[in-house]
Amino acid sequence: MRTTKIAGVGYYVPEKVITNFDLEKLMDTSNEWIIERTGIQERRYIEDDTGASDLGVEAAKNAMKMANVEPEDIDLIIFATITSDYFFPGSSAQVQEKLGMGHIGAFDIKVACSGFIYGLSIADQFIKTGEFDNVLLIGAEVQSTALAFDTEHRDMSVLFGDGAGAVILQPSNTDSKILSTHLHIDGKYVKELWTEAPASRFNPRISKQMLDEGRQYPFMNGREVFRNAIVKFPAVIQEAMEANNLSIDDVKLIIPHQANYRISQAVAKRLGVGMEKVYSNIHRYGNTTAASIPIAMSEALSKGKFEEGDIIILAAFGAGFSWASSAIRW
Ligand code: UT7
Repeated sequence: MRTTKIAGVGYYVPEKVITNFDLEKLMDTSNEWIIERTGIQERRYIEDDTGASDLGVEAAKNAMKMANVEPEDIDLIIFATITSDYFFPGSSAQVQEKLGMGHIGAFDIKVACSGFIYGLSIADQFIKTGEFDNVLLIGAEVQSTALAFDTEHRDMSVLFGDGAGAVILQPSNTDSKILSTHLHIDGKYVKELWTEAPASRFNPRISKQMLDEGRQYPFMNGREVFRNAIVKFPAVIQEAMEANNLSIDDVKLIIPHQANYRISQAVAKRLGVGMEKVYSNIHRYGNTTAASIPIAMSEALSKGKFEEGDIIILAAFGAGFSWASSAIRW
């Protein structure tokens, strides 16, 4: 059976920096509160008329450069996002057109913060079976245009940022490979972290009354998310280690979805490791949902935090509630 390697990784974030002090001017919040509860100092927001596909295209270009492949080499595009450019079709179609990739298959997946690892698992299957040789996987989000800057929604509005990360997956002829992926969801928590409208179960999908009630804004039961995240993150990391007979000492770096710095600290504590083993860049980008893991992976690699032969573990927790992990030998 073939195995899959990550041949290239890249990221892109918009230029516009929004600091906590900028948010102080928009609503009743404070730099101190945001840093103490989340670790975030700043995040990036798009300028007008930029969609998730635009960010994804730039990240894809960087990943293709590292993998030394051209757009015409790509066989399939998987685009993980909860903020696609349009209600339908998916942003993957726009990436294909913008990068001139020809009429290859392309689809979106919508598993929020776990979307990138779900995409990695899907891509891994296509490579292992021999169906494709070059899969482009993107995680990209434009969260800023969904946020409400008022007291009622300030818990959500301080957390999220825009950005994109991408990887190129290829068959491996060395020991560098995806060792395993582990996917979970518990649908009973759907309404604890969600955007309710517009949606197909309402007729009409959106109404003035719904807009007046603010049902188009993301809602989160922050404490419930936190409580579950600090249990599921370590459990799914442990699952990846057990599946590959690894101890925590074998792992060079854990790259978690950047949900909240306090969550990463709690995960490190439960795993009995210091924060030097848990990569974090949330202070600069906030929570970028499906984009956060590939952005962090790309940054960590360029900073020399891991290299060929090292074992890294990716882990995510988010809306669904979904949680997932992947062990990779780089
Ligand atoms: O990808 C997964 C996405 N989500 C997460 O990872 C989030 C997980 N949850 C959390 O990180 C935390 O629950 C939050 C950071 C969202 C909130 O922290 P918390 O310690 O759970 O605060 P809380 O919601 O219990 O609110 C405490 C206080 C409240 O005021 P009162 O009722 O005590 O007077 C809130 O109104 O903090 C207030 N508050 C704020 N104050 C200033 C909530 N948001 C803000 C804000 N600025 N942005």
